Amino acid sequence: MRRLWAAAALLLVAAVAPGWQWPQDTGFDPPPVPADNAMSAAKVELGRRLFYDADLSSDGTLACSSCHEQRHGFADSVATRSGVGDHAGKRNAPGLANVAWLPRLTYADPGATSLEIQALTPLLGENPVEMGMKGQEAELARRLKADACYRRSFARAFPDARITLPNIVAALAAFQRTMISSDAPYDRFRRGDAAALTGPQREGERLFRTSGCSSCHAGPHLTDAAYHRLGDPAPSDAGLVEQTGLEEDRGRFRTPSLRNVAITGPWWHDGTAISLEDAIRRHPVSLADQDIAALVAFLHGLTDERFRTDPRLARPDTACGKRL
Ligand code: HEC
Ligand code: HEC
Repeated sequence: MRRLWAAAALLLVAAVAPGWQWPQDTGFDPPPVPADNAMSAAKVELGRRLFYDADLSSDGTLACSSCHEQRHGFADSVATRSGVGDHAGKRNAPGLANVAWLPRLTYADPGATSLEIQALTPLLGENPVEMGMKGQEAELARRLKADACYRRSFARAFPDARITLPNIVAALAAFQRTMISSDAPYDRFRRGDAAALTGPQREGERLFRTSGCSSCHAGPHLTDAAYHRLGDPAPSDAGLVEQTGLEEDRGRFRTPSLRNVAITGPWWHDGTAISLEDAIRRHPVSLADQDIAALVAFLHGLTDERFRTDPRLARPDTACGKRL
């Protein structure tokens, strides 16, 4: 009898605190999650809908997904995309695979230390203007409140049930934390399947370690999340100095993750590198042509087809049972 009660109590706990299960087979630890934005299925589902919703931009033309497309590893295929109203873009959109693990986001903003903070930049930012919602937070809430499904979704996701900017960015962050790439050929290789990479890719993997690439493109997410100057003497984009005001930071950019890098081109902070070979040659290293070819082959081994086609990350077809 006592055991029955214990089982019933357990079931009850499971029903009221659905918790969150991270995938178990990734080969890396679960990501850090801010204490005030616990993961939940309801929050992730809401964040996914918001990520694909162009109502988050002032003129209804741009969603997060306009510049972060799943088939491109959540980057896009243009050098720098304009924001609303044809405001010129400034930088190339990076892919979002495993952003949950990155302690510093974007190319050159040391203040962007969480996905919650970062999401305010595309929504409200003015340099450059992306989604153009600065000063229009009330309008944003009004639009979402007009939709009964959003009202229900916010109520399920947040104790205060409110449709506010902090809740919007919290849901977006929770969804982005589920953008987990752990099934590239390189991941299977890391987990012990030597045949997951081709011969040239294995040679590239070796060079990646022995030529110093992995000192900056470090760890399972292939970035040290630190800022480096790779030698452009007169960069048109001043990089980190814009935020810190320190002259030594001129031309410094955060090491991008190389996950899915073969499908996130064009490359470089300004999208001016038109091939992976070009991107590698911009580093101050001298490598023989055949070594560059092997490194490029290795970079192709970082493409995760499962991630790229994962239906849980795709544009939702329905919300609250209705077609979108
Ligand atoms: C107009 C195109 C555009 C839109 C719309 C856009 N982004 Fe981005 N995103 C970018 C660019 C460009 C960068 C790089 C900015 C930089 O480094 O200065 C970026 C960077 C990021 C990063 C940092 C990734 C990393 O590797 O550090 C995240 C996370 C992100 N965006 C999420 C979002 C979310 C969430 C939305 C919607 C609220 C959104 N983006 C809307 C273009 C866009
Ligand atoms: C000193 C640190 C450092 C080392 C060493 C390094 N990188 Fe990078 N890498 C960076 C930084 C920083 C960027 C971004 C530069 C920019 O956009 O201005 C970058 C960009 C790239 C890109 C383009 C990524 C994108 O999304 O645009 C590729 C590809 C790349 N590196 C591959 C390599 C390879 C291969 C090696 C070894 C030969 C290497 N890197 C060594 C720091 C480094």
